[in-house]
Amino acid sequence: MTKSKEIIKKSYAGALKNAQSKTTKESCCTPQGSEKSSSEQKIPKLSLKPVQSIPSFGCIIDLPEKAGLKEGDIVVDFGSGPGHDLIRAAEIIGPQGKAIGIDMTPEMIQNATNEIEYKGISNAEVKLGDIENVPLEDNFADVVISNCVINLTADKSVVFKEAYRILKPGGRIVDADIIAGKDLPQSLQNDNESWCSCVGGALTQKGYTEAIQAAGFIDIKIDIDHSIPTDWQGEKIQIFSGIITAVKPL
Ligand SMILES: C[S@@+](CC[C@H](N)C(=O)[O-])C[C@H]1O[C@@H](n2cnc3c(N)ncnc32)[C@H](O)[C@@H]1O
Repeated sequence: MTKSKEIIKKSYAGALKNAQSKTTKESCCTPQGSEKSSSEQKIPKLSLKPVQSIPSFGCIIDLPEKAGLKEGDIVVDFGSGPGHDLIRAAEIIGPQGKAIGIDMTPEMIQNATNEIEYKGISNAEVKLGDIENVPLEDNFADVVISNCVINLTADKSVVFKEAYRILKPGGRIVDADIIAGKDLPQSLQNDNESWCSCVGGALTQKGYTEAIQAAGFIDIKIDIDHSIPTDWQGEKIQIFSGIITAVKPL
């Protein structure tokens, strides 16, 4: 079951607005979907706030540190959201490197832009776009990072093919994501809130491995980080967060 991108955008625009107004404490993937659709409203002019004021929506802390980024790397962050990982990546790779965030939610792009400007980061930028059709050229990046985003997409194999296309030979993807212990119940996959909360669209380790292999990647590794206790209609569901890495062959 796939979810409309409009539902996902609306959900994350609402979650961001809640975080900005500090009326609720959002954590990983707990969006509220009460706002107007992104396409229905103009990009808001947000006040410049330090990045620490907006919580991350990712599922792994310190992903840029864990991704082994090097000075001078070109890094692309799939689903960069409010901009935490993107800005941290830009700091690690330094002025010789470049960090580019892609996100389909205009409000997230505006927030990340504000954070980049607020911090005076010159080697980071964000682009409004879809990670199923990335607005970047072939063989462009050294590393693709992504934190709790690919589970939200309808067809993971398309996203991994796009990552493969924009990576240089020898480049790698480092994807923090939600992983299902076994195939999820269909009713859970069909539930909008579960999908937008990064659970409904999660693949099993086997599903991820197949999608990544089909794109052409090698040296696929999945490191489970922690288990996330989840119930669905009285049934215990095995959900984990983990880091999936894979390499584009030379
Ligand atoms: C759970 S948040 C994670 C944000 C960020 N990576 C972080 O760690 O804070 C998911 C983000 O992915 C974006 N997203 C979801 N599907 C996308 C797609 N197909 N293309 C681009 N961005 C997408 C959403 O707009 C949202 O900002």
